[in-house]
Amino acid sequence: MYNEQYRPQLHFSPKENWMNDPNGLVYYKGEYHLFYQYHPYSMVWGPMHWGHAVSKDLLHWEELPIALYPDELGQIFSGSAVVDAQNTSGLKTSDEDVMVAIFTHHGEDNEKQSIAYSNDCGRTWVKYEGNPVIPNPGQKDFRDPKVFWHEESGKWVMSLASGDCIRFYGSPNLIDWELLSAFGSEYGAHGGVWECPDLIQLSVEGEDQKKWVLIVSINPGGPNGGSVVQYFVGEFDGLEFVCDDSADVVKWADFGRDFYAAVTWSNLPEPTWIGWMSNWQYANQVPSEPFRSAMSIPRKLGLSRINGEFTLLQTPIDLSSLYKEVVVSNETIALKSSETYRVKLDHRQLFAQANVMDSTASEFLISFRGEQERLEIVFDRKRKEVRIDRKESGQVSFSEHFASMDRMPLAEFSDFTLILDKTSIELFVNQGSNVMTELFFPLASEFTLEFRALDGELVLENVELRHLESTWK
Ligand code: FRU
Repeated sequence: MYNEQYRPQLHFSPKENWMNDPNGLVYYKGEYHLFYQYHPYSMVWGPMHWGHAVSKDLLHWEELPIALYPDELGQIFSGSAVVDAQNTSGLKTSDEDVMVAIFTHHGEDNEKQSIAYSNDCGRTWVKYEGNPVIPNPGQKDFRDPKVFWHEESGKWVMSLASGDCIRFYGSPNLIDWELLSAFGSEYGAHGGVWECPDLIQLSVEGEDQKKWVLIVSINPGGPNGGSVVQYFVGEFDGLEFVCDDSADVVKWADFGRDFYAAVTWSNLPEPTWIGWMSNWQYANQVPSEPFRSAMSIPRKLGLSRINGEFTLLQTPIDLSSLYKEVVVSNETIALKSSETYRVKLDHRQLFAQANVMDSTASEFLISFRGEQERLEIVFDRKRKEVRIDRKESGQVSFSEHFASMDRMPLAEFSDFTLILDKTSIELFVNQGSNVMTELFFPLASEFTLEFRALDGELVLENVELRHLESTWK
């Protein structure tokens, strides 16, 4: 089990069949719940259910029975879940706190918001008999409710994607909702429809202040094509979100092709999110079997002021409990111009981290090479960008959109963290302020990792290369 050719060994994927967005992320009594858009009868997108998995550490997941099935109101599209500890909803019937899921019913007629509740730690769910709780107001795209308790105004607040903007609703009890405001028609990127919002508050690193961050997925319209997550930084007073930046500023959370629909866990003090590791441009065609799609590594979120700009920081959760063999630990690797450092990898789960010092090199290359293929990351100081080239990374022809060279603007780099799994690479640069997530489907079974400097020298310090054990056990 869980050892097929393209089965991620560090990332959650369903045992079988189709998965997309993470849904209903909520923490309760030592368990992280991960619900997800799921089509249990096929490996392509179809009538949506909420699949369900739980974890005690965000690394090892146990798949549970399907939580929500489609019904006469429609399919169960994306949404969120909260712990209603004060029983504001009146839906509590046991000693456990009641968990309430807020989701979109996608009917043939339209999209509307509904709720369901669980009194047994998320194991079984009952749909509320008064559904929908927010009927459709005559808007075609009207979905993906994300709810949190807004302490200052003493109410639940919902962010909802509504065509080209995010609407905010407020409620005392998760059942009766009133429209508060809307944001975004004039702001940010609009290359596609807005989806899967999340509104969170983050402390600014090294400052005594907090800011509100509005997360919005958009599909298509990504800087490298297809699905992507953007974010806005500003203030929220319980009524309205006001963006700090001017309307034309666009902030991308991840420049890679494969990080979408990311949202945060509810009821967790440390803001942590996870994204769907694919792209609508080719998600239905990727060559994995008997399942399609995995989630990203869960990432802790922070906010930092970098060159005057509030910037999202993403740090992968601690993987040290998975450390297996040490390939290299706390080493310094000095590369002369055109010199290549090579190390053979025993298997594909790898954690790599280094600080980059004294670099005069115009390019720094990290490659994963199989016999006839390679995935290459290029830090290019002349062009001030990082590129990931997956054009010759193995199977690429299943979709015309897949074989790509993807770019992220970046002037200088001081450190990087890499997480490599069977079919993915996640790259975090400069303390996680610049991130790229990309899939690839290698054919080779043996791999070499290479570091190479071009047109100058470069020193890597505190280099850690660790193989990681599988999380499926
Ligand atoms: C985002 C999305 C959501 C929708 C769901 C349907 O990937 O399109 O907007 O709720 O997927 O599966």
